[in-house]
Amino acid sequence: MKLSGGLVLCFAALFLSLTPVHGIKRLHTINDLKNVDFGRSVPKHSLLLLHWFANTIDIDNNDVMRLTFDPNLGTYGSHHYGNYERILDPLPHGNIRYRYYTVGNLNRGQVDLPVYVLHPPREEFRGRNRDRIIFRVREQTTGWSAGETIDEVYITQHFENSNEGTRYDPAHTYRITTNLLRQIREFSVEENQRNSLMELRDDFGSNISDSHLQNLLAVWRELACLGLLLFMILEEKYNQNNKPRPADRRTPPHCAINVPEEIQNHYSPLQSLRGVFAQDQIHLEVTTGPNGKALIHWRDVPEDRLNQQVMVVLYKDNSSQEALYSKVIKTSDGHVNTSVLLNPGLQARLHKTRVKYCFWTVAAEEICRGREFENPDKVRLQDYDMYLQLFVKDGKAGARLFVDKTFTYWRSQFNKSWVGFYENEHKTTQEYEWWQWQWATKFQPASTTVDHFHDVYEYHSGMTITPGVQARFILRNYSVLARTPSWR
Ligand SMILES: *[C@@H]1O[C@H](CO)[C@@H](O)[C@H](O)[C@H]1NC(C)=O
Ligand SMILES: *[C@@H]1O[C@H](CO)[C@@H](O)[C@H](O)[C@H]1NC(C)=O
Ligand SMILES: *[C@@H]1O[C@H](CO)[C@@H](O)[C@H](O)[C@H]1NC(C)=O
Ligand SMILES: *[C@@H]1O[C@H](CO)[C@@H](O)[C@H](O)[C@H]1NC(C)=O
Ligand SMILES: *[C@@H]1O[C@H](CO)[C@@H](O)[C@H](O)[C@H]1NC(C)=O
Repeated sequence: MKLSGGLVLCFAALFLSLTPVHGIKRLHTINDLKNVDFGRSVPKHSLLLLHWFANTIDIDNNDVMRLTFDPNLGTYGSHHYGNYERILDPLPHGNIRYRYYTVGNLNRGQVDLPVYVLHPPREEFRGRNRDRIIFRVREQTTGWSAGETIDEVYITQHFENSNEGTRYDPAHTYRITTNLLRQIREFSVEENQRNSLMELRDDFGSNISDSHLQNLLAVWRELACLGLLLFMILEEKYNQNNKPRPADRRTPPHCAINVPEEIQNHYSPLQSLRGVFAQDQIHLEVTTGPNGKALIHWRDVPEDRLNQQVMVVLYKDNSSQEALYSKVIKTSDGHVNTSVLLNPGLQARLHKTRVKYCFWTVAAEEICRGREFENPDKVRLQDYDMYLQLFVKDGKAGARLFVDKTFTYWRSQFNKSWVGFYENEHKTTQEYEWWQWQWATKFQPASTTVDHFHDVYEYHSGMTITPGVQARFILRNYSVLARTPSWR
């Protein structure tokens, strides 16, 4: 407000008796919003309205806020607000004309308010048309012109009690500072302005977990940044006056959530070779994780790679270009439990990243790749031209019999023989897994394994593969003809 000191004093004196306006709290930061009683005395919907408003006006580098619509035309359900109840400061008199406007009437704004304000994706955020935004405009000229400046913004609400008519409730009116509007704008849902969810989380000191972020994304989809803002305000109501202020946000995006994404094929074998044989002796391996899921291990990823932001990506096999799982990594050694059921062929690769759709980080150029996950070798049955192999299929243990094509009488030879599964190699032969065994003669021809010298038969058990698991080929008198190596 650029009025002379004298004028200000004069008006202050004039209205002092009429206007107890000092009760209105100012909210400067997102943390300040956490102290507002949303969901009880203040509708949660007003957060959506505020988010929309913050992203609808312009704020320039000098913190000058400008209108992008004409409130006199009723755009977004806006209209002039007379402040007759004196909830807000009386308008300054002088050469410059000020006016209050209110916006957010859902009935009147139906045509131009965005869908998420009118019909939020979650019931708890539905508006009951009580909450409003009031803003004060400083009119440069007579009549409206684009770029009128806004000098004050409030959130408020109509009294719930209809006896109060359409009055606004001064006890639940808050002044919103330009700084807070700026912070809220970081959570824009506009495609070209959207920030990465993880970046927002880190910059605003939220503790939301990666899996929560994934849930947020599932529910709020393209509104996920708004979802994160709401989560922080409503779910993280800590008093965090000692938290560091958000850093300057003009740093490049440095993180995002791990959404398996179609990999753009920037692969070049040369790059891969350089990755493997030159300065980076990076080690990548797929092993057996909990519940039959694949686990990715990495070792010796150099610092400079980590600083550029890299991700481990799981593929079906060496020839696949379709990512099954991916995760941005931050340490040079580590592991991650993936959600992918273990199967032979699975391969981990290290990729550079780039940000796509603003808040999804996807794999870019490949840096290097590990070996395909393999079943252990088959073992020979004592004295016979026959082999036993332990294998994994979709996280479950299976056994395969390789029978030499010349061994035609094997069925009668092993009529009462069976294959048992054991939790580990130390179990006695009687301690086989109950139900997890099968007669050798009941094994089914294996369709996928081709072997020119052997007929291949297999049995799929229901036993989840874990490190230590072993299969044994057993005669009716409990003599063991073969033991596979323990599963690694
Ligand atoms: C994050 O966790 C720390 C430690 O538990 C806590 O002090 C801090 O307030 C939390 N921040 C938020 C935003 O919840
Ligand atoms: C894996 O695929 C790459 C690229 O297609 C190829 O150069 C390499 O020889 C393959 N490795 C194996 C073990 O098949
Ligand atoms: C992976 O799973 C194992 C076994 O449940 C657990 O000990 C380990 O902490 C998990 N690792 C991560 C990074 O969650
Ligand atoms: C073993 O062979 C006998 C006849 O030779 C047959 O009746 C029996 O069903 C066979 N058992 C199995 C488990 O294949
Ligand atoms: C079990 O039977 C096989 C062949 O029938 C025989 O060679 C072996 O000695 C027997 N083992 C025991 C412990 O009886």
